[in-house]
Amino acid sequence: MQRFYWSPRWKGRAVAQLPQSCRFPRRSQRFEGFECCPSAIDDRKWIQSQLRAAYREFFFRLFFSGTQCRSEDMKIGIIGAGDIGKLYGRLWGEAGHDIMISSRSSETREFAARAIAADSGTPEEAAVFGEVVLLAVNYANVDEATSAIAAQVSGKLVIDATNPLVLVSGGDTERVIPENAIAGEVMAEKLPGARVAKSFTTLWSGYVEQHADRENPTVAMTLSANDPADRETVAQLVRDAGLVPVDLGALAQSRPLDPPSPVWNVVLSAQELEERVAAFRQEQVA
Ligand SMILES: NC(=O)c1ccc[n+]([C@@H]2O[C@H](COP(=O)([O-])OP(=O)(O)OC[C@H]3O[C@@H](n4cnc5c(N)ncnc54)[C@H](OP(=O)(O)O)[C@@H]3O)[C@@H](O)[C@H]2O)c1
Repeated sequence: MQRFYWSPRWKGRAVAQLPQSCRFPRRSQRFEGFECCPSAIDDRKWIQSQLRAAYREFFFRLFFSGTQCRSEDMKIGIIGAGDIGKLYGRLWGEAGHDIMISSRSSETREFAARAIAADSGTPEEAAVFGEVVLLAVNYANVDEATSAIAAQVSGKLVIDATNPLVLVSGGDTERVIPENAIAGEVMAEKLPGARVAKSFTTLWSGYVEQHADRENPTVAMTLSANDPADRETVAQLVRDAGLVPVDLGALAQSRPLDPPSPVWNVVLSAQELEERVAAFRQEQVA
């Protein structure tokens, strides 16, 4: 089912990015390349349809706020404009969230923002913008990235999508935290003021591209955070990305989502993933 969202930010940024003949992008089509309205009449129709959608949403919220059937739109700041930042930025934008994507280079972040029809900013600006912040930088740069945003994310939910791996010669990767360490706990030490969650680590971006389906999700994604309310927020974002959330509990219990593990980078249903996690945990205890 098609859903429309009214978002005034289109009036400013996106319009300015379009060719002169195209005054308004159709939000539902923006990922197929900003299909434009061929005439002023179509522009008017588009605006009218958006206004109708805004009224519908307003009255829906007014009368049915106690029986909410979809998530509230969130402002999400993304640190890192690579495969993961762009992928989840696009999926969450499609689900109706407001996204600001960032990287250190203005060229990279502006290119990424155009590709996924989001706002762009510096990492510090994205950290200020987001009610929720997704950390999606290479682990080699994680210390630099976390110290740049530590003050801005104080008190906020930071979803850490990084894996504690770095590239070594020959294209292989190497785990760079101690064998008995848990990546989420290591990140919580780097961002002591933030509420750190861990998610979006266990699937290659290509698998997510292939399987993400908001209407009929089948592929599982792990998540973990210390606060149950934060886990519910992350679970909603997993659903909004078209995946099935599997809650592993507090960060201390999140070892199965770090590499190496039998659920890391494997396409699994929720049931298959839960079974593998249970077996892995038993093995760890034994
Ligand atoms: N790719 C996957 O399939 C996948 C799946 C699960 C988890 N992960 C994890 O997700 C993280 C990101 O992976 P990726 O594949 O998206 O990496 P990527 O494509 O190499 O992108 C990394 C991004 O981080 C930005 N960056 C680097 N240092 C930064 C800093 N200090 N501040 C702000 N931005 C910074 C880079 O841009 P600038 O250099 O321009 O700043 C780049 O846009 C990694 O930790 C990876 O292990 C990846």
